Amino acid sequence: MLRVNIGNAMEEVLGEKGLTEKEVEALRDKLQDALSQIKERRWKELAFLDLPEQDLTEVKKTGVRIKKEAEAFLLLGIGGSALGPKAILHALSPFHNLRKTPRVFIYDNVDPVTLRHMLELIDLRKTVVNVVTKSGSTAETVASFMILWEMMEKTLGEDAREHFVATTDPEKGNLRQIARQNGLTALDIPEGVVGRYSVLSPVGLLLTEVIGVDSTEMLKGAQELRDRVMEEEPWKNPALLVSAVLYLYGTKYQRDIDVMVPYSDGLKYFSEWFSQLWAESLGKLGLGFTPYPSVGCTDQHSQLQLWMDGPEDKVVVFIRIEEYGDDIRIPFVFQEMEGLSYLSGHMLSELIKAEQESTELALAKAGRPNLTVIIPRLDAYYMGQLFMFFEIVTAITGFLIGINPFNQPGVEEGKRLTYGMMGKRGFEERRREVEEARERKRCWCL
Ligand code: PA5
Repeated sequence: MLRVNIGNAMEEVLGEKGLTEKEVEALRDKLQDALSQIKERRWKELAFLDLPEQDLTEVKKTGVRIKKEAEAFLLLGIGGSALGPKAILHALSPFHNLRKTPRVFIYDNVDPVTLRHMLELIDLRKTVVNVVTKSGSTAETVASFMILWEMMEKTLGEDAREHFVATTDPEKGNLRQIARQNGLTALDIPEGVVGRYSVLSPVGLLLTEVIGVDSTEMLKGAQELRDRVMEEEPWKNPALLVSAVLYLYGTKYQRDIDVMVPYSDGLKYFSEWFSQLWAESLGKLGLGFTPYPSVGCTDQHSQLQLWMDGPEDKVVVFIRIEEYGDDIRIPFVFQEMEGLSYLSGHMLSELIKAEQESTELALAKAGRPNLTVIIPRLDAYYMGQLFMFFEIVTAITGFLIGINPFNQPGVEEGKRLTYGMMGKRGFEERRREVEEARERKRCWCL
């Protein structure tokens, strides 16, 4: 089971910059209210909590077909529809495309250079395109879908339809309509499950199956973690404690930047996934905390100076892995050089774990709060636990702050202005606004 250690955020270990038990106690009622909201599913968007019980028949069947028939799997999506799949791919099948087929490409932007490169690398006749969009109309995703649709039709005619899988809302939206009209294979993102909480739906699970990983294990991990954090007593509930620590530092002590540092290359994109979840869920009404994606040990030689010695505005969240599952011994070479020979005979996993522990301690000695999330190993089961854990922590933290952690009103205006510029009917006024803004800026352009 995933565990946490919040010692380096508490007064007993950290000294005067640590939180006191009294401060956490004072939050008890709010924490219990947040937990009740979760248990009673008071928001329809808490449907993500029930994803572990979903029926996987269609996902598995589609996965088997893709593995059998395709050389390439191209996922089109953005935000919550792409970051989860990316995190899964990099954690559970590192260097996938150099080692296995179907090769996997995740296109989550509208950069023409990237798409051109991807298209040069794949043979459309042997490619399955998975279009992932809950709303069914996100501009970036549908633009790339339209391009692929036309290209597939030109290459394959009527057969093109068999090369698409639509992952979308069960009823609503343009993509659902297209899927119905054209008889596309379609997988449901259940009603209530919103983008950044959707990784454990077919959004992430189809890719999981395509890369040869058992999605049942991932859901089992998520389920057991979810049940574990339904514990009422805050001091025994890791999700409540982590939310409490980040909330107290963020609101009482202006430490509102949360650095996510997994000590694993495989979790680099997990950091990105977490950052979207934390930023888009909590940043509203002038409130919220800033996520800072990172990876250890790499960023010890890039960012650590700032965390240790820079502004006192951060809390560092480590992810520690107990067993790496593979290891390499550092050999007995260059024994005459003291600067190197002390490493001989040690395993690489010993070094990475020592670095994680030392960094924790160094930060604590400098009065910099941090906490550690510990998983026994990095596999499908524990990825399920990590996803579910941080989704629940995010929802609880949102309830503590007093905002809606499931919407994202702040991204709408940018979308409307883009619609105006791209000529969408009804957004003519927005287009004029953009043109006027361009004029106002002109004299400031050097
Ligand atoms: O978390 C969210 O809801 C968003 O980040 C969405 O995932 C993102 O905007 C993409 O939306 P959609 O899946 O509807 O294309």
